[in-house]
Amino acid sequence: MNKKFKNDINEGLSKLSKTLPSKYFYDKIGDALFVKIMNLPEYYLTKAEFDIFKNQTKNIISSLDIKPNTYFELIELGAGDGTKTKELLKVLLLENFQFEYLPVDISQNALDNLEANLNKELPKLKVTKKQGDYFSVLDSLKTSKHPKVVLFLGSNIGNMEDEKASRFITNLSNSLNTKGKILLGVDLIKAQDIVLPAYNDKAGVTKAFNLNLLHRINRELDANFSIKDFSHQPEYSEKEGIARSYIVSNIDQDVSIGALNKVFHFKKDEKIYTEISRKYNDLVLNEILKNSELKIVTKLLDAKGYFADYILIKT
Ligand code: AVJ
Repeated sequence: MNKKFKNDINEGLSKLSKTLPSKYFYDKIGDALFVKIMNLPEYYLTKAEFDIFKNQTKNIISSLDIKPNTYFELIELGAGDGTKTKELLKVLLLENFQFEYLPVDISQNALDNLEANLNKELPKLKVTKKQGDYFSVLDSLKTSKHPKVVLFLGSNIGNMEDEKASRFITNLSNSLNTKGKILLGVDLIKAQDIVLPAYNDKAGVTKAFNLNLLHRINRELDANFSIKDFSHQPEYSEKEGIARSYIVSNIDQDVSIGALNKVFHFKKDEKIYTEISRKYNDLVLNEILKNSELKIVTKLLDAKGYFADYILIKT
């Protein structure tokens, strides 16, 4: 893991246009900062998707075309704390659906916490934790013939460039049987005055989240980034429907990374691209689904029309 981290950082900072992968935001400190982000007034995404799960639960169930008497597997990729999913689980239990909930996560700790919470709040729920990367787990679940519903919420797909999202979706589709369903949560393309503040909050939490990447490199790779000499800079293009976050060097400076035995130069105003947060609409999603066997069945919107949960079916 550490070796991969080291190589990825070296590769990203050696490019002509420097980059750092957003997947490295999520160490212990980054995880805690992300929880804070989800609670920020500007960060509408989590609230909007919660609104769909809370107020349109029946709609979700009918669109998924599941029946109380047919056993199915509800698989969630990257389950987090399950706040949104619990709204669906509650109703499924109440209405006597026959199913098992399989949260998938790379973090055993996250899974253990989620399971403990679910055992307490929904004691009747059958939970089977699956630790590992998404596709090894999905592969291991392929032998089961039960109908599958896969949840991939929170606009997590937004962190992938379109080509990667397309490959991801195709892999996901390959792990399903015909009529398998995916519930895909995505943030929708909308005006800059709503999107940009979500990545540039007044309290500076997103800034700390972005710059934590430099702290992490300092801690884990023996580097000497002077954090105050870098800024957080989010940008949004409504035309593309893409938000991008950068770390910008405030001054001309050299930074040494001990673990790499290397010094990197940063010019004043030079940008390091750290994160894509892609926003969607039907056109963008259909382009991504183009080479897959998946079709859009429906989309459910929150009351403000900010966020969509798309239901996809494998044909
Ligand atoms: C977890 C990928 C949905 O892009 O909105 C939040 C991560 N980054 N604030 C997003 C994030 C900065 C988030 N996703």
